[in-house]
Amino acid sequence: MTQHETRRPYGNIILTGFMGTGKSSVGRLLAARLGFTFVDTDAAIESRCGQTVHEIFRDRGEPAFRAMEAALAQELGAGDRQVIATGGRMMLDSANAAALSRHGLIFCLWATPEEILERLSGASTAVRPLLEGPDPEARIRLLYEERQAGYKQFSPVTTSGKTITAVVEELLAMLNIPPV
Ligand code: S3P
Repeated sequence: MTQHETRRPYGNIILTGFMGTGKSSVGRLLAARLGFTFVDTDAAIESRCGQTVHEIFRDRGEPAFRAMEAALAQELGAGDRQVIATGGRMMLDSANAAALSRHGLIFCLWATPEEILERLSGASTAVRPLLEGPDPEARIRLLYEERQAGYKQFSPVTTSGKTITAVVEELLAMLNIPPV
């Protein structure tokens, strides 16, 4: 066991941030580097329901999806050695944030609205139902404005113009883990 592991001051690492900021890609690589389990909350909900996020929004409605996120936050908050990439709104709910911060360190990934637009422009609304409608760009800008203050309560990590590896190295440095 490494010195860091014996003194590890956190159970889980939580990644939050707007859609398209790289939470899942960064989280997967960070988990591999730490030897932690990677959990993507959207994927966990999808596999439990046997439906995509889009289908859940369509068939059961957004409140049902948010209730599933809330239950998952309580469950994951009790776990250990997990890197958790959360859905874009999950940590903006105070009960979810409280549950996941109990043994967790939270980082918020940021990208400029322009970069988010670029990253999401190829993505289908089958993946992100909130961007459905005639003007997804306006929707992104509106949600970004609405959510900025909420995201600012967490430690920021900028991803714009950086590779996934560079962002992971930055996070490892913030966790005081020396490079390999
Ligand atoms: C949402 C973000 C999505 C997903 C759902 C709602 C949001 O996750 O949870 O479509 O409200 O921001 P990603 O942030 O992984 O795209």
